[in-house]
Amino acid sequence: MSNYHIKHLEEYYQVYRKSVREPHNFWEEIAEEHFLWRKKWDTVLSWDFSKPEITWFEGAELNITENCLDRHLATRSDKTALLFEPNNPDEPAQHITYKQLYHQVNKMANVLKSKGVRKGDRVCVYLPMIPELAVAVLACARIGAIHSVVFAGFSSTALATRINDANCSLVITSDGAYRGAKTIDLKGIVDDALNSCPDVKTVLVVKRIHSKITMKPNRDCWLQPLLDAAPNEAKAEVMKAEDPLFILYTSGSTGKPKGMVHTTAGYMVYTAYTFKNVFQYKENDVYWCTADIGWITGHSYIIYGPLCNGATSVMFEGVPSYPDFGRFWDIIQKHKINQFYTAPTAIRALAKNGTELIDTYNLSSLKVLGSVGEPINEEAWHWYNDNVGKRKSPIIDSWWQTETGGIMISPLPYVTPTKPTYATLPFIGIQPCIMDEHGTELQNNQVEGRLCIKFPWPSMARTIWNDHKRYKDTYFSTYKNMYFTGDGALRDEVGYYRITGRVDDVIIVSGHNLGTAPIEDAINEHPAVSESAIVGFPHEIKGHALYGYVTLKEKGESRDHNNLRNEINQIITEHIGPIAKLDKIQFTPSLPKTRSGKIMRRILRKIAEKDTSNLGDISTLLNPECVQDIIKEAL
Ligand code: WTA
Repeated sequence: MSNYHIKHLEEYYQVYRKSVREPHNFWEEIAEEHFLWRKKWDTVLSWDFSKPEITWFEGAELNITENCLDRHLATRSDKTALLFEPNNPDEPAQHITYKQLYHQVNKMANVLKSKGVRKGDRVCVYLPMIPELAVAVLACARIGAIHSVVFAGFSSTALATRINDANCSLVITSDGAYRGAKTIDLKGIVDDALNSCPDVKTVLVVKRIHSKITMKPNRDCWLQPLLDAAPNEAKAEVMKAEDPLFILYTSGSTGKPKGMVHTTAGYMVYTAYTFKNVFQYKENDVYWCTADIGWITGHSYIIYGPLCNGATSVMFEGVPSYPDFGRFWDIIQKHKINQFYTAPTAIRALAKNGTELIDTYNLSSLKVLGSVGEPINEEAWHWYNDNVGKRKSPIIDSWWQTETGGIMISPLPYVTPTKPTYATLPFIGIQPCIMDEHGTELQNNQVEGRLCIKFPWPSMARTIWNDHKRYKDTYFSTYKNMYFTGDGALRDEVGYYRITGRVDDVIIVSGHNLGTAPIEDAINEHPAVSESAIVGFPHEIKGHALYGYVTLKEKGESRDHNNLRNEINQIITEHIGPIAKLDKIQFTPSLPKTRSGKIMRRILRKIAEKDTSNLGDISTLLNPECVQDIIKEAL
């Protein structure tokens, strides 16, 4: 009996129990019945969280693109696979069928091969949300190259760090990007980055905005003529189950970004299975996830999960506010979207613009609304439910991470009764638990603590690129034999989970994870700055925004503070990207420190949140007297 599609609550509980009691049998059945394998596995799962070493479907051979493309050709060749909606609403949408996508991917795969890319090589993809981005990702997978997609909002410094960390030999980019009324000079950013990336031999450039750019001889090539000349069939490389599929960088609370490594078979099985159930996708539905493919949500739920299920997946190039705040509703109406998956920050920004626009559109095609990226506050939840879903479409508050590869805790629409701000129940096969700060599991309901996962799941990241020790230290050392998520959570009286936010120094701004350390490092490069500390504070639209406390060197004290603020944000933009800019910058003579010299962010966070009634014991600080001054001068 197939458990691939769960249709009601009783079935959920029954399948969930089976997935936990007999995980090997359970996942074997799912993998066996719903995917195309070149060779079946010898072992479903082996794991040891103390090392950590996890393998799923060891011994199996496959190519994920045969699952995303080839196997649909017999029954869905003329079905739309990707529906591309351009930035400019007057530019026609493109319906790319499975057959066309198959040929485009094969052509791109042949181009990559002709440029010397081989199985296991890393390819950096730095593109806007245009079809070539999905094609590039799949073309890498076709030939067994490891894609490393870098979000096209990252700066040249951030891009260079990522290219060098993964040692990419080839970069795929475009002349530029459209973003609402603006254009962005992507190629210029790549050129800057490559000044410090000696190993990049080739840059393939998509023509998108027809801007004037410089092409470096012997390195840069326009992509289109190469695609035109390439054969439209390419052999799919036979991959092992645990061969890396991609690297995707995520911020850590310290140091440089972490290149999370996802492997092939487990990732495929889990993203496909979650997609089917979390969105209750039916054959003729049109599904739209508004995320950028530069983030994990786009990897798993624009490309791999939907395409494995033969779905129609929408790719939107633009922004929710262009040409006006009705754009999302316009797209939903135009393409008769059935499942809509977006982020709380977008919902809050849209809510701020009222409901006049929304009421002029027909949103009756909607069946499922999704939310991801940060906790969705109650007000936003109700606004989404009332005005977008008209109280008819369940809201899927899905909790997961770059590291988890797929959705971990989420209601299943029309299956799990929803509750505002709760991600509700674990997905099939997921065994979450809540730990207290001493490392004891809180077994009962109505408890709050730190969220861990006790048992492996197929799409978990296997390592951090080039840094297995950091992988172990970050995720498997806080609690013995557990994956530690870095999030706090509570479990209510019926066993529903609510995610309460990060418990480390990662701050989620508009759904983007930002580590405080890299931002502080950037600020500290300013010649007038002596030291800095970043904390998050609640923000109406972004969820959290960044508050920087900065101490200045003597020569900085005499400078105009507003100029300094601009310069600091300029440095951050250069090092990381505009998403990491500070909303508030407070200059202060000193930062509160422990006797061992650690900055007490807890206190700074409370001041930024304007919650100074209970700062806790500050008498143990090295310099308790500074706290009152900071409060007095707080912004
Ligand atoms: C947060 C995004 C509450 C959480 C898929 C997590 C959420 C981090 C939710 C991962 C949610 C994501 N409710 N918090 N539904 N979804 N988060 O790696 O703190 O970009 O650890 O993956 O976002 O962000 P990432």
